[in-house]
Amino acid sequence: MKAVVCKEFGPVDRLVLEDVPDPVAAAGEVVIDVRAAGVNFPDGLTVRGEYQMKPPRPFTPGNEVSGVISAVAPDVTTRRVGERVVALCGLGGFAEKATAMADRVVPIPDSMDFNTAGGLMLVYGTSLHALRNKARLKAGQTLLVLGAAGGVGLAAVEMGRAMGARVIAAASTDEKLALALHHGAEMTINYGATDLKAELKRLVPAGVDVVYDPVGGALTEAAVRGLGWGGRLLVVGFANGEIPKLPLNLLLLKEAEAIGVFWGAWTQRDPAGHSANVAQLMQWFAGGEIRPHIGGVFPLSQAKDAISAVMDRQARGKIVITTEEESKASF
Ligand SMILES: NC(=O)c1ccc[n+]([C@@H]2O[C@H](COP(=O)([O-])OP(=O)(O)OC[C@H]3O[C@@H](n4cnc5c(N)ncnc54)[C@H](OP(=O)(O)O)[C@@H]3O)[C@@H](O)[C@H]2O)c1
Repeated sequence: MKAVVCKEFGPVDRLVLEDVPDPVAAAGEVVIDVRAAGVNFPDGLTVRGEYQMKPPRPFTPGNEVSGVISAVAPDVTTRRVGERVVALCGLGGFAEKATAMADRVVPIPDSMDFNTAGGLMLVYGTSLHALRNKARLKAGQTLLVLGAAGGVGLAAVEMGRAMGARVIAAASTDEKLALALHHGAEMTINYGATDLKAELKRLVPAGVDVVYDPVGGALTEAAVRGLGWGGRLLVVGFANGEIPKLPLNLLLLKEAEAIGVFWGAWTQRDPAGHSANVAQLMQWFAGGEIRPHIGGVFPLSQAKDAISAVMDRQARGKIVITTEEESKASF
């Protein structure tokens, strides 16, 4: 089969597409014929050797796939060959076949196409866990989402809306904000052109209930200054490359909380909670409350362009890699 291979940590453009042996299902695993794989920011960090997980080289990146199960290990009784599924595979997703533990594989409805499915689980799973389990977001509360047109950001906008919150989308361009408005934001702040702290004060003088922050850098403190009494800061990621430092008096003065979010680790520590969230996502998808935006589809041979688009701030919603031979890049 063909697979994207990282031989040594380094720039994304050193990735190569190679013929490698087909994977075999070890105990507890299934093999999936991959139709699409979601591209996530951590994929690029992993290739560059900048992620917390540093796999032995060579390896194939890609943590989430959609496709059809083509083999199951003898001890797997919960999944069967032929099922349409999404799966979290850790690594190995940017390939024609991938293995995943059977308990990390979820069947998808016939109404969900493979590109949508390939980009669904990680961003929506992260944002739902953050908003529901960590921030305890309630209907009627205000939610500020930074990086609101990116992968996890746009998912947070949609789910904040589905949970009945008033969503303020913040992003670096008007074009990105237009997408967030289309997906349920009520108000917008262009932090590329205006001052986030001042705009937040103008829009919500009493302060917001929850800040969803996958960006980091100077925006974090500006957003925390816009929290209201009992507000919650969700620390999701540092896409701008700078881990911010925060004066803790800002939390004390408002009895506010800063809450770390590590969705991947949580799914393994709380499989029942994760299953409940997946069921909620599928229900929202069926009801049209969430409408994943696929901002670009790249063939496997252009995986490095797909990853670069995410790392270079170009992505809108989800970028996916497809294994369908006839597909052409659309971005
Ligand atoms: N905690 C968890 O469990 C978890 C799970 C998944 C992802 N994450 C993290 O969440 C972050 C976002 O991931 P994603 O997949 O949603 O990425 P993404 O689609 O690229 O979105 C990131 C957003 O960050 C903003 N940004 C600001 N400065 C940037 C820069 N220098 N380079 C790139 N983006 C920049 C961009 O929005 P503007 O241009 O509008 O500023 C961009 O849309 C990453 O740090 C990732 O590691 C965390």
